[in-house]
Amino acid sequence: MCGIVGYIGKKKAEPILINGLLRLEYRGYDSAGIATMEEDGIKTVKNKGRVACLLDIPEIDKLEGTVGIAHTRWATHGKPTDINSHPHLDNKKTTAVVHNGIIENYIELKEFLKNNGYEFLSQTDTEVIPNLINYYYEKENDKTENGFLRAISKTIKDLKGSFAIEVLNNDFKDKMFVIRKDSPLVIGKGEGENYISSDIPAILSFTRDFYLLEDYELAVLEKDNIEFYNLDLQKIEKTPKNITWDMSSAEKGDYDDFMLKEIYEQPKAIRETIGARITKNQKINLDELDFTKEYLESIDRIYIVACGTAMHAGLAVRKILEEFCKIQTEVDIASEFRYRNPLVTKNSLCIFVSQSGETADTIAALKLAKSKGAKTIAISNVIGSSITNEADYSLYTHAGPEIAVASTKAYTSQIVLLAILGIYFAETLGVVEKELEKIKEELLQVPSKIEDVLKDTSKIKVFAQKMIKEKNAFYVGRGIDSTVAMEGALKLKEISYIHSESYSAGELKHGAIALIENGVTVVGIMTDPDLKHKTISNLQEVITRGAKTFVVTNQDLENVTFDEVIRIDEISPYISPILSVVPLQLLAYYISKEKGLDVDKPRNLAKSVTVE
Ligand code: G6P
Repeated sequence: MCGIVGYIGKKKAEPILINGLLRLEYRGYDSAGIATMEEDGIKTVKNKGRVACLLDIPEIDKLEGTVGIAHTRWATHGKPTDINSHPHLDNKKTTAVVHNGIIENYIELKEFLKNNGYEFLSQTDTEVIPNLINYYYEKENDKTENGFLRAISKTIKDLKGSFAIEVLNNDFKDKMFVIRKDSPLVIGKGEGENYISSDIPAILSFTRDFYLLEDYELAVLEKDNIEFYNLDLQKIEKTPKNITWDMSSAEKGDYDDFMLKEIYEQPKAIRETIGARITKNQKINLDELDFTKEYLESIDRIYIVACGTAMHAGLAVRKILEEFCKIQTEVDIASEFRYRNPLVTKNSLCIFVSQSGETADTIAALKLAKSKGAKTIAISNVIGSSITNEADYSLYTHAGPEIAVASTKAYTSQIVLLAILGIYFAETLGVVEKELEKIKEELLQVPSKIEDVLKDTSKIKVFAQKMIKEKNAFYVGRGIDSTVAMEGALKLKEISYIHSESYSAGELKHGAIALIENGVTVVGIMTDPDLKHKTISNLQEVITRGAKTFVVTNQDLENVTFDEVIRIDEISPYISPILSVVPLQLLAYYISKEKGLDVDKPRNLAKSVTVE
């Protein structure tokens, strides 16, 4: 989705802004632009297409200013064109704005402005913002900073929707104004310079000290000062947070792609997520929570709510919550949950899982659950992200920045953390089961088991070559293996553009088997000894109909022959997706590479989906 960068300091802003935008490319975008404050006022350079194409526009070499804003756009209102690209200016060309999010009432605001003599060049919702600021600023007839802040505040009060906004104005050449609501924005604090970004990795090489803006907080930045205000323009105090991610984790290093790097980072990400939470022969340590046995006994239902891969992580841990804690657990897609009037009560516990912590539907679902009085837990990879600000409790995965659009290390870290949470609940409830101790031990061992899978990936690479011309593929499993089948199929379609479906193996016969013909690939996952016979039978049914099979398993295959078998270590079927997903991630990766596609930035997708 859209990305924002800003710089105010002593250096030339343009190269810093371009560098920041390049780092945000992974979010997915279709056009890019920058505006800097020059001696004779704001200058913009923008285009449809890649950030790198901005460098071919001659005007960019004339930008000398030390204050600037920049944007990558993922089209929502209006096609990707030069004109629709940000930054947008007001009619008088005195105010420049970049904006992430959506202004839901822009048509109404546009009408209002048109009736007051304003004209619009673009089809975007954003263009109303600089014009509305200008409208109020002129009306105020107060050319001081206070007058301009009042104009911004009035504009913001008129906006419905979500936004992170950067503003420049010719009357305040040494200042930048930023404000947000439901859309991420961070301020990086430097020495004699300050940075803005929609996410931390873009400016991580410049600073580790960040201010995290909350909804409706307005910041006025100068190169060596930042003032914060609420929407009524009362000053507020904020302290910066220190982020411990290191820069190398946001660089590709020796890897061809971020996705491959992130697949290989999984052992580290899991070790860091476990940290001191599991110690042998001791109870789980989750300092962040203060749940009692009585509270857990009072829960009527657990809801795990998320989107995409994060939702699949939720599905993988339902078994732990239901079987050991005996609490009915529903796993919901956030965009459905928020509109289906779920039976959430004040006795419900709602867990929201989001790598970025900024997914619009997940945030909205969290707000809904809170409005119904439920207790809420956020599980995120990003400190200070919106869902962590909103939830009653927050738990962090420590996977480091995930840049590739297709999520890998976030997924496995989320399952690890959710499993730890489930065991914590079980222990607090006084459940004593040998299997729980075994799962804890295996969580500690799983990083080295993943390392074993990663040591030799040649068989997966060879099978990938056999799949590149295919149009359809099916992923099947039963029980927990059906949840990892969903994630495997998602990985494949996301980055290889091969249509892939996942099925509970037992459901094949109820429809999808009609699509099985010679050469179609069926991927089978079998880690649960109680269910493997059933899945083997289902796979035999597709083999008989001409399918070629790729199997990921740690089970005895009872002399059935498959086209390829990837053996993984023994692992408890309660947490097996953490391990069984790895060959599936690699399969999707190698197919995408073989097809010559952009693995990290697949078409039409975005890393962080900050609009509905
Ligand atoms: C997008 C990404 C997926 C991700 C999903 C949820 O679709 O491309 O990789 O799983 O959003 O993102 P979140 O940040 O909420 O986990």
